[in-house]
Amino acid sequence: MIETPLADPNPLRDPQDRRLPRIAGPCGLVIFGVTGDLSRKKLMPAVYDLANRGLLPPGFSLVGFARRDWADQDFTQIVHDSIKEHARTPFQEEVWRQLAKGFRFVPGDFSDDVAFGQLRDTIEELDRERGTAGNHAFYLSIPPGFFPEVIGQLKKHGLADEQAGSWRRVVVEKPFGHDLKSAEELNAVISGVFPPESVFRIDHYLGKETVQNILALRFANQLFEPIWNANYVDHVQITMAEDIGIGGRAGYYDGIGAARDVIQNHLLQLLALVAMEEPTSFEAQSLRIEKQKVLRSAQLPPRLDRHTARGQYVAGWAGGVKVKGFLQEDDIPKDSRTETYAAIKLGIDTRRWAGVPFYLRHGKRLGRRVSEVAILFKRAPHLPFTTTATEELGQNALVIRVQPDEGITVRFGSKVPSTAMEIRDVNMDFAYGGAFVESSPEAYERLLLDVLLGDPPLFPQHEEVELSWQILDPIIDYWGNHGVPEPYPAGTWGPQSATDMLARDGRIWRRP
Ligand code: BG6
Repeated sequence: MIETPLADPNPLRDPQDRRLPRIAGPCGLVIFGVTGDLSRKKLMPAVYDLANRGLLPPGFSLVGFARRDWADQDFTQIVHDSIKEHARTPFQEEVWRQLAKGFRFVPGDFSDDVAFGQLRDTIEELDRERGTAGNHAFYLSIPPGFFPEVIGQLKKHGLADEQAGSWRRVVVEKPFGHDLKSAEELNAVISGVFPPESVFRIDHYLGKETVQNILALRFANQLFEPIWNANYVDHVQITMAEDIGIGGRAGYYDGIGAARDVIQNHLLQLLALVAMEEPTSFEAQSLRIEKQKVLRSAQLPPRLDRHTARGQYVAGWAGGVKVKGFLQEDDIPKDSRTETYAAIKLGIDTRRWAGVPFYLRHGKRLGRRVSEVAILFKRAPHLPFTTTATEELGQNALVIRVQPDEGITVRFGSKVPSTAMEIRDVNMDFAYGGAFVESSPEAYERLLLDVLLGDPPLFPQHEEVELSWQILDPIIDYWGNHGVPEPYPAGTWGPQSATDMLARDGRIWRRP
């Protein structure tokens, strides 16, 4: 399918001109699950930050839907507090006042027909009073078990129906199912109501500047692509480490675990971007084709006992504070087998990557919060130095620092200044903070704006989601039938089995 650029009615405004900001047209956003953490910490602040940057239309409206006995003013107060606490950009009374005029709240639960009728009336009223023109996005920031019910209600009450010249979109937060089968079922429910181009699946890693920069790094430069293959790359390590535990998310996390929560989506998306071939363009369809090819070529190791690892944190330290173990967290059953750490090894069966292992790991309560992609290069085929001169020389590396301290590090050997020849690793750094004056937008700002603009490249389609489950399902099944997660103390870098897994291949995990 060839995609046409977004139509722009103004002939003086060239959509390719990057000096002109991309501003959403008349529209509104409805958030289900408005009382949840995601909504308060990420979505509401992102709406404000977009308004503050002048990227939302003047009549933009935000409708909250939840089981709370609130009036519009109570909802407005909640949004206000969330913005004050979490917004990225400074609070401006004027922007706030304009934005708050478009806030509405609809009380009710998901089975309540009256409430959905009221939601429809509210939206129609916004169209009349604030000029939202029938364009509305429905954000499902709710436990996945409720997706079918809410989507069914949207259909039943005519909320999913687009009128000529207007749009209706649905935004689905992960997890998209908990295995391949449930993901397929979920997709059947969604696609029964919304056409594929109206469904926006959020993987917030794709909204991060540093993640989008992987494409720029690889395909805008001449320097890296010639060595981005099995001839030069020894292996790749993709790490997402968190120092936090599960906090108040026991209900969601127990039974889900680290592999489903993060590897299935964020880390496999990173892998796809790092490993894919050059797309014919950056339009959604071209990107998806290349990412899908990578996911289809992913190969599990023949021995899952030796090349995967999982763990569960026990009491330890985090940021100088004593913290409890996973099994002592509120509402976690004492015999829970949910893993809070997961590491897997994958191969990619293509000419470019034959024989290059990709190691993916994620854990909670690890040494610190850091996400990175490290490309480790093979050693030079010949070293014309004495062995003592290169004793301290490691492998060349290129590290994409996704967060925090966003940037890229290149590590290579350099002569230590002295009269003798001694070579050690040094780092060359690019830091966003030093290279650009503007701070990076939050992932949710970018993604919400793209939803309102109807711009799809940063949103995975169901094929990618299903391919990712195909990779993970056999591992999770294997774990389900073999043993329990290995304990690791909070504040360390995971279980011994993860270290052993790399040691078997003669490698070690980077200490990020
Ligand atoms: C979410 C996971 O997708 O990503 C959470 O469900 C995790 O468990 C979060 O804490 C981390 O996001 P970030 O952007 O802070 O790396």
